[in-house]
Amino acid sequence: MPDFRVYLEDRRRQFEEDLCELLRIPSVSADRRFAADVRRAGQWVADQLQALGLKVEFIETDRHPLVYAESPPVPGAPVALVYGHFDVQPPDPLDEWLSPPFEPTERDGNLYARGATDDKGQMLTHLKSVQAWMETQARLPLQVKFLIEGEEEVGSRSLHQYLDQHPERLACDVVVISDTSMFGRDQPAITYGLRGIAYYELRLTGPKQDLHSGTFGGSVMNPANALTKMLAALIDDQGRIQVPGFYDHVVPLTDHERQQFADLPFDEDAFRQQLGVSALAGEAGFSTLERRWARPTFDINGLFGGYQAEGAKTVLPARAGAKFSFRLVPNQDPQQISKNLQAYLEKLCPAGIKMELEDMHGAPGVRTPLDSPYMRAAARAVEQGFGKPPVFICEGGSIPVVLDFQNKLGADVLLLGWGLDDDNTHSPNEKFRLADFHRGIQASCHLWEELSRAGNV
Ligand code: BES
Ligand code: MN
Ligand code: MN
Repeated sequence: MPDFRVYLEDRRRQFEEDLCELLRIPSVSADRRFAADVRRAGQWVADQLQALGLKVEFIETDRHPLVYAESPPVPGAPVALVYGHFDVQPPDPLDEWLSPPFEPTERDGNLYARGATDDKGQMLTHLKSVQAWMETQARLPLQVKFLIEGEEEVGSRSLHQYLDQHPERLACDVVVISDTSMFGRDQPAITYGLRGIAYYELRLTGPKQDLHSGTFGGSVMNPANALTKMLAALIDDQGRIQVPGFYDHVVPLTDHERQQFADLPFDEDAFRQQLGVSALAGEAGFSTLERRWARPTFDINGLFGGYQAEGAKTVLPARAGAKFSFRLVPNQDPQQISKNLQAYLEKLCPAGIKMELEDMHGAPGVRTPLDSPYMRAAARAVEQGFGKPPVFICEGGSIPVVLDFQNKLGADVLLLGWGLDDDNTHSPNEKFRLADFHRGIQASCHLWEELSRAGNV
């Protein structure tokens, strides 16, 4: 194994500056007004890959572009596919950021910016490790393909289509994704399970325009009242979701898995304090890690309707609505859940209210095999990069294409996360710990060597 330490030490500043350049592009995929910026971020990634001497393709889609690249084939060695995303979540609420979201700023060894950890910084570690190999060895020990998308944060629809149309081009033995977290500071982890998601917007309409709530209140159904009633009927006091059939295919936690979670050094009190709450909550009968990693949940993501500005206004709003989502576990089917949900809400919807349910995106939960040669190779690489062997964890977030990579490419998926739970992803003051950025690059340098050997045995 070549020694990259001196090379990587010399390039620290340069790599950080490269990351800052990418972070300055406000590539918010959810908001149409930023579509040109999402594209610009994709172009930036494509240019980087091009500079590494890879064969690059900028792929147009119905929505945001995809970037594909590949290094030359290496006969006898496996093929690795790196997946990541250059789109980010909206930065709001803006006034809670200590430095502007698209002006990357270093404080206490962290780089603050929207996308710093999710996923620009983490994704870039694999480009930089390829750069290290190319500039010092002029080759990679295996073929590496890159597939970096601009739609992850809105459900990866274009990528799903691309996977259906071009599975041969993405053919690989192992998929590498750095878009998850470590178990804690200085405790690296490999993630073997992610939750899925089913995301909806519910829109309720009542009278043809807003009404005086004194003149008319009590004589017509208020859509905001109806909304609260319908949403409240989705979950009970025990944290059980009430959509018919919702739990039908849930794979229960095994005793072994429960024991593994319980054996992790998880500090409930520190977790509670980190979040600034006086008590934790969730489904009865399950531990906090079980609730976060292996049980389905329901969350309202946004509520609208009625008067939102200063002061009291007596109004009966004409419209109200909510964005909400379920997190899913293996083997729940988002499409089946959508059907059951639609029927259930229609039944709950009171007379005088028109309802519309939009199915915004869905993805099933996944588990990846733990005992594969690639997994063991990855564990060795992570240990070499971070100086400590990884623990094996699940996480509660979702990466929509992972199950498709497993099913359609037949590849092992390695979720090697360099982030931290307190990185403030999707929230104000997102950050990435710079030490972990550099350790991630180092681990990735080792990964190429370890994977090439694992595939040869
Ligand atoms: N990187 C996250 C996924 C993630 C979050 C994995 C936390 C592990 C822990 C990803 O960018 C993400 O946010 N995904 C969305 C998916 C959705 C928009 C389809 C999510 O989980 O909300
Ligand atoms: Mn991500
Ligand atoms: Mn995200």
